Amino acid sequence: MTDVPSLALNTGAQIPQLGFGVFQVPPPETAAAVGMALEQGYRSIDTAAAYRNERGVGEAVAASGIPRDEVFITTKVWNDQQGRDTTLAAFERSLERLGMDHVDLYLIHWPAPGRDRYVETWKMLEELHADGRARAIGVSNFQIPHLERLLDECDVVPALNQIELSPQLQQAELRRFHAEHGILTEAWSPLAQGAVLDDPVIADLAAAHGRTPAQVVLRWHVQLGNVVIPKSVTPSRIAENIDIFGFELSDDEMARMETLESGTRTGPDPDVFNG
Ligand SMILES: NC(=O)c1ccc[n+]([C@@H]2O[C@H](COP(=O)([O-])OP(=O)(O)OC[C@H]3O[C@@H](n4cnc5c(N)ncnc54)[C@H](OP(=O)(O)O)[C@@H]3O)[C@@H](O)[C@H]2O)c1
Repeated sequence: MTDVPSLALNTGAQIPQLGFGVFQVPPPETAAAVGMALEQGYRSIDTAAAYRNERGVGEAVAASGIPRDEVFITTKVWNDQQGRDTTLAAFERSLERLGMDHVDLYLIHWPAPGRDRYVETWKMLEELHADGRARAIGVSNFQIPHLERLLDECDVVPALNQIELSPQLQQAELRRFHAEHGILTEAWSPLAQGAVLDDPVIADLAAAHGRTPAQVVLRWHVQLGNVVIPKSVTPSRIAENIDIFGFELSDDEMARMETLESGTRTGPDPDVFNG
């Protein structure tokens, strides 16, 4: 079983640098997939109310016998629940579905700027953090102006921003901003949902290290300092994706990866997506 290194959040708590994402895992298959991930050594699970599979996550954690404080659970408030009381109610429904009395990280899923409620929503997250039910709070898909508004108008600095980030969308500017403010960068769709796995540069590096393209991409994320949350329902890939701590890309190889930036998103543009 692989031991995954952790990174420090600005709360002082630790987050495993590699976790297991469950977006698009069908609810009836979620407990089995998360159970496999826990067996392989994953200790961080990323779900969301919008994925409709929080119940399966909670069932797998309970069935694993792993103490709750050894598993890091993230979930998120969906766009149409933003606002003060609606977020509180959404959070309590998430806890109920997870069968837990707290989460390790609660995120605003999208800024949804057209709704203009993320500041009010963040203030509710600050209360959930203060009462201990959200051990850490953060955001997802926030761009620099959205983060600046939270820094200007609120008290708690987000612990983490979960953003689309892959070799084809490297987010250098946002990562620099995060580093300046003590915000961790967490990469979603870290494999660009498979779109980068046929790239010749990545294939070349995979051959050089006797690794798979997915392992090279995930290793690149870890060496950038990202938290990374690949998803798979395939047992061999769940095992492959966590087995990335026994090799290292050189500075030259990291520089070759940097050339793959193309600004290509697989998901919506956070500046216009209101869900
Ligand atoms: N905050 C947000 O707005 C947001 C948005 C999207 C995603 N996320 C989070 O990020 C997680 C990961 O993103 P994602 O699921 O979109 O994409 P991803 O992890 O980049 O890619 C998942 C896809 O790649 C395949 N795959 C996984 N490992 C592989 C391997 N070793 N070799 C070849 N193919 C492999 C999977 O197939 P199989 O499953 O069939 O094996 C699946 O089709 C999500 O599950 C979710 O937790 C967050």
